[in-house]
Amino acid sequence: MLVNMRIPSPLSAPLAFCTLLLLGASHGLAAAEAAPVTAAIAVIHPTTGNETAGIVTFTATDGGVKVIADVTGLTPGKHGFHIHEFGDISDSAKAMSTGGHYDPDGTHHHAMVDADRPDAMPHHAGDMGNLVADSAGKAHLEIMLRGVSLTGPANPIVGRGVIIHANSDDGGQPVGNAGGRVGQGVIGIAKAK
Ligand code: CU
Ligand code: ZN
Repeated sequence: MLVNMRIPSPLSAPLAFCTLLLLGASHGLAAAEAAPVTAAIAVIHPTTGNETAGIVTFTATDGGVKVIADVTGLTPGKHGFHIHEFGDISDSAKAMSTGGHYDPDGTHHHAMVDADRPDAMPHHAGDMGNLVADSAGKAHLEIMLRGVSLTGPANPIVGRGVIIHANSDDGGQPVGNAGGRVGQGVIGIAKAK
């Protein structure tokens, strides 16, 4: 439309350009508001003295939020794996600034959710069970989380933390006895696949 307009005077050219910019900006804003967030990612960094690193992706599906984790630099065996309340990774030494397990429903009850028991109830919305590392220290996990969403309205996880622990989550109360925090990341919005 505007592109096809004749622009006779030197003064109207910049005006038309500004109008195009404004239209473009408002259009971009509307598109951003309308597009639902369907993908998120947490990049895991090691805390002091550890080598834990990896990628955790979160994808919105009809059945819940699908989580796929690929992590390296672990000791062989099980490692507690949770969404924590805060996406604050300023405590790079021990990751305590991420707070406790994300528990928006106030269940105050931890459970060892895993691929076989994704609905073990009641549990903190952020409980994701264990990563299991092989002899090379690599772990791969796929699990469906049903009690959360990416950006809401129910229990949004974007902006929160992901924690990998030194020890096995044994399902005990209140937080699974998984010990120190060897890796941490923040869940951020990712480009939809
Ligand atoms: Cu944890
Ligand atoms: Zn928990």
